[in-house]
Amino acid sequence: MKALILSGGKGTRLRPLTYTGAKQLVPVANKPILWYGIEAIVAAGITEIGIIISPETGGEIEQVTGDGSQFGAKITYILQDQPLGLAHAVKIAQPFLGDSAFVMYLGDNLVQSDLGAFVNHFKDQHLDAMTLLCQVPNPSAFGVAKVDETGKLLQLVEKPKDPPSNLALVGIYLFTAGIHEAIASIQPSARGELEITDAIQMLLNWEKNVEAHQIQGWWLDTGKKDDLLEANRVILDEYTDAEQHGEVDDQSQVIGRVHIEPGAKIINSTIRGPVVVGADCHIENSFIGPYSSIADNVTIIHADLEHSVLLEGTEVKNVHQRIVDSLVGRRAKLTEAPQRPTAIRLMLGDDSKLELPM
Ligand code: G1P
Repeated sequence: MKALILSGGKGTRLRPLTYTGAKQLVPVANKPILWYGIEAIVAAGITEIGIIISPETGGEIEQVTGDGSQFGAKITYILQDQPLGLAHAVKIAQPFLGDSAFVMYLGDNLVQSDLGAFVNHFKDQHLDAMTLLCQVPNPSAFGVAKVDETGKLLQLVEKPKDPPSNLALVGIYLFTAGIHEAIASIQPSARGELEITDAIQMLLNWEKNVEAHQIQGWWLDTGKKDDLLEANRVILDEYTDAEQHGEVDDQSQVIGRVHIEPGAKIINSTIRGPVVVGADCHIENSFIGPYSSIADNVTIIHADLEHSVLLEGTEVKNVHQRIVDSLVGRRAKLTEAPQRPTAIRLMLGDDSKLELPM
């Protein structure tokens, strides 16, 4: 069995971060989202992985993720020139996939469930396709499944205005090579994309062996800021260990599960976990509250923050309001305005969002 991870797309909902980087590389608990998928696939016993990349961000994904050896896998990068849909991505990956069955994994999805159990079920039952479902409050934003009272899959529709249920298609699918024939027989949708949902519906029309399974536990689609903060909260809650490799001085208090990477310095500060602090950070006279991820080389001096994600090289100095629910991009600088304390001076990227206190 092989795996195909889709890591293209433009990431419009995470702008401005995604003007300069791939959405799948935005870190959750200081690790790129994409890597969680790779690790789940390898843990399920699959080591031949194709990653679909776009011309805009493919180079960065390839550079950061490498040939797969760090994960015990072999990664092949496959360029999708234009974002023409999930089924289109499978189509162009055909030379890599060959006749093999495969797991298709959307690179911005995170799930708690054990992928290996689904892979075993798929193989044991000789299924043609398997989809995973999760109850959501806003099904119209997803592919939606209609199932009968026994849970048998009846119909799939992509982004329906009038959803037949609250069961969304999670971005993880299992297929045999039979999916290629189904993809060859579908037409682009109203949004101009070849939808994998339509291809699976085609398998259902042909009375192939297709099953849908509701996942237990959480599923996080990290496409937007608040989803990303939620993913960060859940992952920190579940996986943070209390390991301290940096230097913490006697005036500081580190409470609960706080992971500090080598080279980080914590001076006269309080950190209350779960929190991760990246390598070579400098934190001084500050408070870092729960559910914060501080990437490498971040400087925080005289500031107070919680439930926030700070990307690499950010500087926060002398900020007198507490920073909450924030996602701050690489090398951003937040400082006081010394001459005119009531004025604010800004240099914000396109599509930035700033919420000021009243
Ligand atoms: C895609 C699929 C949709 C699925 C979703 C999961 O949507 O088309 O069926 O529910 O991923 O994340 P997209 O992210 O392309 O809008």
